Amino acid sequence: MHIIDLPGDDQELIQGAAILLVKGFKEHWPNAWPDVDAALGEVRRCLGPGRINRVAVDDDGTLLGWIGASREYQGHAWELHPLVVHPDRQEQGIGRALVADLEARVRERGGNTLYLGTDDEDRMTSLSGVDLYPDVAGHIARIRNLRRHPYQFYQKQGYTIVGVIPDANGPGKFVSFLVENSLDLGLLFSQLFANNISTFFAVDLVITAIVFLVFAVREAGRYRMRNWWLYIVATAAVGPSFAFPLFLYFREPRMERSQ
Ligand SMILES: CC(C)(COP(=O)(O)OP(=O)(O)OC[C@H]1O[C@@H](n2cnc3c(N)ncnc32)[C@H](O)[C@@H]1OP(=O)(O)O)[C@@H](O)C(=O)NCCC(=O)NCCS
Repeated sequence: MHIIDLPGDDQELIQGAAILLVKGFKEHWPNAWPDVDAALGEVRRCLGPGRINRVAVDDDGTLLGWIGASREYQGHAWELHPLVVHPDRQEQGIGRALVADLEARVRERGGNTLYLGTDDEDRMTSLSGVDLYPDVAGHIARIRNLRRHPYQFYQKQGYTIVGVIPDANGPGKFVSFLVENSLDLGLLFSQLFANNISTFFAVDLVITAIVFLVFAVREAGRYRMRNWWLYIVATAAVGPSFAFPLFLYFREPRMERSQ
């Protein structure tokens, strides 16, 4: 299997993508794209400017799945839509591969967030068919997947439910929103130094880490401690809060032996 751009002039793949939409959504969302004509309109709309469309194809060119996204919020956040995997090829990691590929494409374009809305119209989750007010957040926290609603697929890819619109599709039929904030070093640093207080703590932490590492390397040499690099990894991965006690724990027996 490989993942490629959906070419806007490949009529066979475009037709295949439309058929996928109809087949993939007919069980739980039969009104989304009831026939191939409606789905073809959607495929063409998705091929418009400011969009990404990626398809998974077999070695013989068979279409296995399609994922798309549109650029929103000046390109910081992109809306994932649609995602569909051929019903005969689900549960084989194709959806996961398509999401990972899309995240890489969005990151290349400077985006840091992907979000999506997903409906529940036929009681696939515990949030469907009930009055979600007034404790909407509590219902979200206690959500249960009753009939394999795809929200759980997205959670497995690192997405978080950030909210729902109760009754969006009629009484008891909600739409939920899921978001992933992908790893973005630029964003991390801008948030780290967002204000005086966060800058103070960030600088304090960096100084602590440097002082600890100099101390650890010197002490490791003094007591002939092996695996000294472990403390550098522990500092980088977690921080001095983990690396320092770890270092003291392993230094103790060495100190006793040298006395
Ligand atoms: C949802 C969908 C895209 C998932 O694609 P897929 O190729 O079957 O998913 P994968 O095989 O990559 O699954 C990855 C993981 O998610 C889990 N998963 C997949 N679909 C799931 C679902 N509906 N509910 C709960 N978990 C699911 C898999 O079991 C797997 O778990 P693991 O990592 O523990 O092994 C696919 O089922 C589909 O096209 N469904 C119909 C259309 C649809 O619902 N689109 C999304 C609308 S927003």
